Amino acid sequence: MRLVLLGPPGAGKGTQASNIVEKYGIPHISTGDIFRANIKEGTALGQEAKSYMDKGLLVPDALVVSIVKDRLLKDDCKQGFLLDGFPRTVNQAEALDSELEKMGINLDRVINIDADADILIERAVGRRICKECGATYHIKFNPPKVEGICDKDNGVLYQRDDDVEETVSTRIGVYMEQTKPLIEYYNQKCLLLNVDGTQAIDAVFTVISEELDKQLKVDL
Ligand code: AP5
Ligand code: MG
Ligand code: ZN
Repeated sequence: MRLVLLGPPGAGKGTQASNIVEKYGIPHISTGDIFRANIKEGTALGQEAKSYMDKGLLVPDALVVSIVKDRLLKDDCKQGFLLDGFPRTVNQAEALDSELEKMGINLDRVINIDADADILIERAVGRRICKECGATYHIKFNPPKVEGICDKDNGVLYQRDDDVEETVSTRIGVYMEQTKPLIEYYNQKCLLLNVDGTQAIDAVFTVISEELDKQLKVDL
């Protein structure tokens, strides 16, 4: 299955991505995670991306598109993939379409998870991530058993630099202006699956997996 996860910051894309890739055995490609890994390693790409991310702005299209193109050519994408947080502009979506066309493949579904701004801010500000394995928690909605410590590997939990309220508000504004038009873009291509992201984590996954299971039956 070739999937895209669309939605504002804090909607639950990464959380649902973990569930989806586990169930369907496809690689998880998060452009945000790729940038954060580069920042951690101190690469030139990481340095450039950080200057935009810290302000809550989008990294320029050309940079993002070339990274995704390279990633899609890797062997593990042959059986499918889940793009999380890409595309984020109409420009990126068009670049993805032309790349997929060259590869002779199509997207199967675009899953759009949505929630209101007040919920998004509370989710992003309360998010905590494991330094070791990247598992995502929330201080209120999905707390670890021991405060500040990952359940899986005892790794220390940290907060993303861009998860402070002011930057989250900027990110939501950027989403409204530059990413939201993609809902109509993919609606016109009949690829859109709208999911109410205000439900509990498990309930959101139930809706998504029921739809994807139906899709798999259609494809067989
Ligand atoms: P990115 O890392 O993609 O961040 P984002 O889109 O802002 O989304 P988030 O990761 O913040 O939220 P999420 O939807 O994954 O939520 P999560 O599941 O973690 O991008 C970061 C930056 O990188 C961008 O600002 C930009 O600068 C740059 N960038 C990345 N891609 C780019 C691109 N294509 N083009 C240009 N620039 C790009 O959940 C959030 C919290 O809520 C967690 O604590 C979780 O436990 C909790 N939670 C999740 N679901 C629920 C639920 N149903 N109920 C209660 N709590 C929930
Ligand atoms: Mg995410
Ligand atoms: Zn961990």
